[in-house]
Amino acid sequence: MNKKTVYSGIQPTGCLTLGNYIGAVSNWLKMQEEYNCIYSVVDLHALTVRQEPAELRKNILSFFALLMAVGLDPQKCILYIQSHVPEHCELTWILNCYTYIGEAGRMTQFKEKSQRHKNNINMGLMDYPVLMAADILLYQTHLVPVGADQKQHLELSRDLAERFNNIYSPTFVVPEPYIPKQGAKICSLTDPASKMSKSDEDKNATISIIDPPELIMSKIKKAVTDSEKIVEYREGKDGINNLLTIFSAVSGRTIEELASEYRDKGYAKFKNDVGEAVVECLCPIRQRYQELIADKNYLLSVAREGAEKASRIARKTLRKVHRKIGLVER
Ligand code: TYM
Repeated sequence: MNKKTVYSGIQPTGCLTLGNYIGAVSNWLKMQEEYNCIYSVVDLHALTVRQEPAELRKNILSFFALLMAVGLDPQKCILYIQSHVPEHCELTWILNCYTYIGEAGRMTQFKEKSQRHKNNINMGLMDYPVLMAADILLYQTHLVPVGADQKQHLELSRDLAERFNNIYSPTFVVPEPYIPKQGAKICSLTDPASKMSKSDEDKNATISIIDPPELIMSKIKKAVTDSEKIVEYREGKDGINNLLTIFSAVSGRTIEELASEYRDKGYAKFKNDVGEAVVECLCPIRQRYQELIADKNYLLSVAREGAEKASRIARKTLRKVHRKIGLVER
């Protein structure tokens, strides 16, 4: 009865990468056994940059199927599509009135995306972290499993919860980030100093969790490393560090163990074995995905049921919020 609540979400853009899987989704999976977990395909977040409607529609269902394919089980957790639960937008408006323009403008992601989309610096882009705070706070969330890039957004969610609680009285649980010690930032295969990003135009930079085995092998073989010949985890070896992190995450073996086994075996053998381990981990996901995506009605029925459950919890929080701030009961 007293299980903690876990909440997280993923944007349905590009493809679900090995970075998303290792940094976040694989932890969602473990947590569904122990906590009250609520996971969402956050389609409203994706609107902050221009999307092609037919592609977005396809991606939303595809991401939903992918989450089920990795093993998230609607019997164990709530899985839903964000736009199916209108309470997210309602709470966002209210939280907007407690967010300073200065703090939203300081968000690194806002600054980066404003640089990248100079012709479309819209209000939604700035409001993005407030919508994210609403996602989390609506469900009285204790823990938010995310990769390192979401840390700053999480801090804003905490600040907003504390601010609101201080002005009125305890209303929201103040959420804690859950960022893994290892794998919180999986890097690009072609530019290992930067994050593997699902919207990267360079297809060799990312691995989609449903890439076919040959493609995975070829991308890993092409991965940028360095001119030394030693497999070792240390500063200055971004490419090898990244491959070791990936290898460790998909095989369950420690980085130390792998580094000592492969130290002098050469990069070709090392990359081959990293590739095989990734293929072995992802193969079953790809198969389940193909079955699931063929049954749109089933996916929609799971999404509908998830949205009903989520909405019930969200309504309760929203009623509390309305009361605290002085709105009149319906
Ligand atoms: P998104 O869709 O960009 O990514 C989904 C999750 O994957 C993590 N991640 C990574 N982890 C390790 N290495 C990487 N290269 C990598 N790339 C992405 C992200 O940290 C994230 O956990 N704003 C969020 C979505 C969101 C959300 C929320 C998350 C909306 N509302 C509420 C938690 C709670 C985002 O854009 O994630």
